[in-house]
Amino acid sequence: MSLVQNLTEELEKTTDLSGQSLLQVYLGKKGKFAAISSELTKLPITDRAEAGQALNKLKTVIQQKIELAKNTTAEEWVDLSAPGIQPKIGHLHPITQAIEEISAIFSRIGFTRVRYPEVDWDWYVFESLNMPPNHPARDEWETFFIDAPDTSQPVAYDPNQPRLRHPSLIGGKQVLTTHTSNGQVREMERLDSQPPIRMINIARCYRRQQDATHTQMFHQFEGLVIDTDITIQHLKGTLEYFAKEFYGPNVKSRIRPFHFRFTEPSFEVDFSCHICKGTGQIDGEKCKLCKSGWHEVGGAGMVHPNVLKAGGIDPQKYTGFAFGWGVERTYTLKPNLNIDDIRLLYSADLRFLEQF
Ligand code: FA5
Repeated sequence: MSLVQNLTEELEKTTDLSGQSLLQVYLGKKGKFAAISSELTKLPITDRAEAGQALNKLKTVIQQKIELAKNTTAEEWVDLSAPGIQPKIGHLHPITQAIEEISAIFSRIGFTRVRYPEVDWDWYVFESLNMPPNHPARDEWETFFIDAPDTSQPVAYDPNQPRLRHPSLIGGKQVLTTHTSNGQVREMERLDSQPPIRMINIARCYRRQQDATHTQMFHQFEGLVIDTDITIQHLKGTLEYFAKEFYGPNVKSRIRPFHFRFTEPSFEVDFSCHICKGTGQIDGEKCKLCKSGWHEVGGAGMVHPNVLKAGGIDPQKYTGFAFGWGVERTYTLKPNLNIDDIRLLYSADLRFLEQF
């Protein structure tokens, strides 16, 4: 009898169980009511009738309690003024943020953002860019080749007989794009070889390189402008515009003579260091960040006539400029970022990434 009494009291105090849980805990096959009922057989016969009645009462009490719980859970009191649980909010990866900023800067001066394949034909990555098969200039690009059958028919290289006009002949080796310059002839092709062209191609690139300033996967942004009377002045003005928009109004840009097979003349592009303001010196000592007053961020030049021809454009009528810079390198040189190892950007370490 005391068991029945105890359970009745316990039941009265229980407020935190739903109707379904009460059903399981008290009336389930292995529930508390079943446990007490099994004690009935252990009582002397004379006591059983009274105990049976008490048990029946208890069962009624449990059932009422379950009904009550079922009805009240739907109307549970909710404190609407209680502070909510703050959800964890993420943000875009710093390189994605940089890509968005770069796209916006170029879109303001009429460049169209395009995207081309990351696994591309050797033709677009090298050959159409004035780098015939086996040309030593290709070595600079430390290429990953795709292990796929070479489908090309051997054709002697002739810039006056561009192959892209004959899609059946596009084939050959495939590579992971080593630079965004693969978009140059693809863009000429997309526009049916009809300038004006003003493209900005931002994409992933791949090279067999890994150190503090190189990663095997990285991003470049490639500008290409083709029209009548395009000169180096247009290139220089575009670089200067980008430098000031991206780094701030006091930054200067410069171009130095260089060599690429697909531009003539070719340049390397530098931006003045924001720490030493382009002087290369701080308090009479060499600037530790740049050592020379300048940071190199990419290449540029006037589009080579053979590249225009490969894209079906007449080099007698049109000229153009192109540039290609590393997004990671350009981004990590932003004032106050102080990222001296670009591999950190891809370390997936949230303690690092959450700072940006
Ligand atoms: C090129 O890739 C040329 N296609 C650029 C170009 C385009 C020149 C159009 C003329 C006209 P380069 O190999 O120097 O050039 O690479 C350009 C930039 O990409 C480098 O300055 C660097 O900022 C970045 N870069 C190159 N390799 C890596 C790498 N492994 N990791 C990170 N950034 C890289």
